[in-house]
Amino acid sequence: MANRKKTPSKSRKAAAKKAAKKPTRTSAKKARGSAAKKQNARDPKKTAPKKTSRKTAKKAAPKKGAKKAAPKKAAPKKAAPKKGNRKPAKRAPRKAAATNAAAGPRPKKVKRVCILTGGGDAPGLNAVLRGFVKHAHELDIDVFGAEDGFTGLIEPGGFRRLRPMDVRGILPRGGSVLGCSNRANPFSYPVGEKGEEELVDVSDRVVRRLKDNDIDILVLVGGDGTMAMGMRFQEMGIPVVGIPKTIDNDLAATDFTFGLDTAVTTATWAIDALHTTAEAHDRVMILELMGRYAGWISLSAGIAGGADVILIPEIPYDVERVAKKIRQRSELGATFSIVVVGEGARPKEGTVSTISEGREGHLPRLGGAGHRLAAELDGMVPHEIRTTVLGHIQRGGSPSSFDRLLGTRFGVAAAELCKERRTGRLVSLRGTSIVSAPLEEATAEPKLVAPDGQLVKAARAVGIELGG
Ligand code: F6P
Repeated sequence: MANRKKTPSKSRKAAAKKAAKKPTRTSAKKARGSAAKKQNARDPKKTAPKKTSRKTAKKAAPKKGAKKAAPKKAAPKKAAPKKGNRKPAKRAPRKAAATNAAAGPRPKKVKRVCILTGGGDAPGLNAVLRGFVKHAHELDIDVFGAEDGFTGLIEPGGFRRLRPMDVRGILPRGGSVLGCSNRANPFSYPVGEKGEEELVDVSDRVVRRLKDNDIDILVLVGGDGTMAMGMRFQEMGIPVVGIPKTIDNDLAATDFTFGLDTAVTTATWAIDALHTTAEAHDRVMILELMGRYAGWISLSAGIAGGADVILIPEIPYDVERVAKKIRQRSELGATFSIVVVGEGARPKEGTVSTISEGREGHLPRLGGAGHRLAAELDGMVPHEIRTTVLGHIQRGGSPSSFDRLLGTRFGVAAAELCKERRTGRLVSLRGTSIVSAPLEEATAEPKLVAPDGQLVKAARAVGIELGG
């Protein structure tokens, strides 16, 4: 319409004038036909679309005539509006065009994304990958996977297309079909011979690799460390979408991470198993569980498994209280006790037990809390004491149905964030809903067990000793 206005053709103008002078009973169909014919005659290459010719006919028809001759289609059912109320049909599209112009150019369609699983593994990672790949495929996004965390984007190879058929049958499998690495920090990457390695910033290699492969968005499945790297890549011009992962459940950006439920289930099974052997030998059984500086695994499994003492990092313990609880139980006839201790737990006057200091850019390896407690308790209770360190068994094996479900929901939601180009965000569970949050929230203060929270209160209410 705008074009027609700008370059009015003499013949059409004349036709319009003629039509205006001589009102005719000719049906609009006829008018459409003749207008179309004229238009085609002007531009033989074009076949006048019906819509255009209908509008031309309407415009050309005199008001009176149009009223009488208006075809049913053009004036559907409704009585023709009174003159004053009649709105020109062309106004609506003009308004819409103005709105679109104000909204600016459409963002580029997301076509290719790359996903990787950073840090340590967590049960449910494969459910995430499966959910993400399947839904991205539906959304017409091609997915590529980098193997072994960032290694696949730093070293040659290790970068491959992931199609729905590549993620078939992986739902019940632990680990990650892409592999994980908590050594592959691109901002502090070991380069050189083993033993003589130097830590180098190779982040530009990652950026180049992504750009060379026309990757629109980098999708990171990881914990706080991986998300911190994601934020740095965002600053370097790589759009990032995050999916929170850790069995430790210590990310403030989400109420729950997948992996926790499986770890708690496995640890609960271990507590059940320790009960029978503890009872048979009248022993104190100490079980050291993972979780770093957060006590979610220990407290949850300890309550679910019926432990007598639970020591978590958030509540530094007094060993005398622990010994007292065990002695009391003995006096009441319970000849054994189960003590759960989180790897990050520490005595009131002590520090966290570590196996080794972390390399630059990495956390220290925790361990030894269980054996230290055994040494502290030795001689304070009338029992033999044995210590079990459950270790990586908590991270291995088939994910629980809860973790498969949460992983699937996270994967699907992350594909949607990609489609909508809502980058710089990570998916999150709030209550029972999947939402999204800024990446920064994953790297903020860790989410720890509240010492006066409901979970702690429930533990105390059923007589569990928390050491402080
Ligand atoms: O963060 C998950 C976690 O399993 C912690 O609970 C544990 O301290 C740590 O990772 C173990 O890491 P790695 O696999 O490097 O020994």
